[in-house]
Amino acid sequence: MKSREVLFLPGDGIGPEVSNEARKVLEYLNDAQDLGINISQSVVGGCAYEEFGKPLPEATLEAAKKSDAILLGAVGGPAWDNLQYDLRPERALLGLRSELDLFANLRPAILSKYLSDSSSLKSEKVLDLDLLIIRELTGGIYFGEPRGTSDSNQSAFNTMVYSRDEIERIGRVAFEAAQKRNKHLCSVDKANVLEVSVLWREVISKLASEYPDVHLSHMLVDNAAMQLVREPKQFDVIVTGNLFGDILSDIAAMLTGSIGMLPSASLNSKNQGLYEPVHGSAPDISGKGLANPIAAILSVAMMLKYSFSLNKASSAIENAIQEVLSEGYITHDLEGDDNKKLSTSDMGNKIIEKLI
Ligand code: IPM
Ligand code: MN
Repeated sequence: MKSREVLFLPGDGIGPEVSNEARKVLEYLNDAQDLGINISQSVVGGCAYEEFGKPLPEATLEAAKKSDAILLGAVGGPAWDNLQYDLRPERALLGLRSELDLFANLRPAILSKYLSDSSSLKSEKVLDLDLLIIRELTGGIYFGEPRGTSDSNQSAFNTMVYSRDEIERIGRVAFEAAQKRNKHLCSVDKANVLEVSVLWREVISKLASEYPDVHLSHMLVDNAAMQLVREPKQFDVIVTGNLFGDILSDIAAMLTGSIGMLPSASLNSKNQGLYEPVHGSAPDISGKGLANPIAAILSVAMMLKYSFSLNKASSAIENAIQEVLSEGYITHDLEGDDNKKLSTSDMGNKIIEKLI
């Protein structure tokens, strides 16, 4: 059997705590089902800066390039907030995304039926919510050139640029995802103002003829932000550019009650992937056993599905989590019975119990 190389990058803040639980789940399944996964570990983010003077050391980048899949906890924290731009922990994330060409960012927002009271919307608005945001991750204004600050520091600028090829490849990922779901794709742009969005709309519209079973619609990003909180269940798959996707996925995350529940996958064309919880490093609660490991554990489920096509093992994790939630067990970020609030590691153990 071909070995499967997984790199763990725990990172900063609650990253190590939640990724440790994810690692326990992966190790359990690997042993129980003989999945042939080899796990190694490296440093990234603020802790890498402390050790090597940079957030993404060469050795980490090399290990990442050689792996089939990466699980990242979270990066960042107040200790590194005042570092110059290139040394900030977040740069490591952007570096991994661009160096590995991880252009397709999949951010599902699924509300467990056991948690509909945790949402900031009325439960009938979000009951059974299941939407998928597909964010272009290696282009757009995050990476466009020119960028910088004028000599006198009186102005600063970034460039939002997309090529036809970049739009087409993320478009294909989105149409294919919609084909496997409810066959509705909404492309989000700002085509009433931005040339880059006019091109985006043109390329996505042209692709639609190759996917006749998918119903395509277009929406302006301001309206999409409103519709997400007005009637989120109208959406199935949303595809959008880097910056709009960043913003809309945070809105979608909150609809599910807690950002502590949401995993993500960032894939390249070889299905090499970086998997990470959508939440950040939450320095305020780090080291206290308060963090919710479910987003990290669901990120492992996404890894098994997207990088290794181990769909059964992936579903087993998702089902185990639902079973734990159905029994009322929660973590500190979720609404529910205080007597059933579990620590980070107890939640990990509870999920593993259901896998056995
Ligand atoms: C995200 C984060 C990152 C982004 C930051 C940390 C660079 O907000 O993954 O959504 O803006 O892409
Ligand atoms: Mn973000």
